Amino acid sequence: MKITKAVIPVAGKGTRFLPATKEVSKEMIPIINKPMIHYAVMEAVESGIEEVLFVTSTGKQEIENYFDRNFELEHFLEERGKSEMLENVRNIGNMIEVCSVRQKEQLGLGHAISYAESFVGSESFAVILGDDLVLSETPVTAQLESIWKTHQKSVIGVMEVPNEDTSKYGIVDGEFVDGKKTLKMNKMIEKPLPKDAPTNLATPGRYILNKDIFDCLREIPRGVGGEYQLTDAINLLAKKDEVFAHVFDGDRFDTGSIAGYLNATVEFALRSNETKEIMTEIIKDKIKRYKL
Ligand code: G1P
Repeated sequence: MKITKAVIPVAGKGTRFLPATKEVSKEMIPIINKPMIHYAVMEAVESGIEEVLFVTSTGKQEIENYFDRNFELEHFLEERGKSEMLENVRNIGNMIEVCSVRQKEQLGLGHAISYAESFVGSESFAVILGDDLVLSETPVTAQLESIWKTHQKSVIGVMEVPNEDTSKYGIVDGEFVDGKKTLKMNKMIEKPLPKDAPTNLATPGRYILNKDIFDCLREIPRGVGGEYQLTDAINLLAKKDEVFAHVFDGDRFDTGSIAGYLNATVEFALRSNETKEIMTEIIKDKIKRYKL
């Protein structure tokens, strides 16, 4: 048994990146030379996922186009003998099967995921939030899949966050069942204030869910922010069935915020052989110039 399907919600307006997102999807904003969504889909591919469903909204066609072939561009590059670029462009078009469904109103993450029901059928599936990029040796989705293989239950990826940050995330409470990495979940709370947070174990948007989540999504009322929260549906699922959480290995970047985006850009540049030296020189120069 393996997880072959992933759902990636991309319907958001990306207001934190306005005015860039006035005409460009936030998922298409690049980190170095690849749009952010490329990294999320890459995580899926490297985790063995075979099909991706984008939950989209109006004006997001460029995301699907990006993962399609572009024969005109390929022809252009071929004619000019740009074989390396040609291969890169072709590989993106052949990376993975993608399809999309329109979320006609943006009523929350839970609402977005409910659109995936017919796509996933009776299988368990991964959810990857593209605003959160994780650099790790084993992709996070693959790390969660290995826990899912053991327990055959839903698994939520979590990381420790500073106590004052709990109100930015879905927070998990439970008992460790396997050293300090895997927990059996008691409950999950969406964006609790630090004083109400049972732990500081937060999800950056990595989940493996079974099909029962769709019944839970139908049952939950609107939650934090007046939205249908995936966290509330997972909390309900944990009351009916076992749900696990797993503290994954890796460095996470909140690329949905300007600070996280800048951080990811510098980090990704330093980790790539092509840009490492350039970025090192830039940083050294800035430190000197602005006496940082
Ligand atoms: C969503 C989820 C939240 C999760 C977060 C990760 O919130 O509702 O549980 O921790 O993504 O980024 P959002 O940031 O979309 O408000």
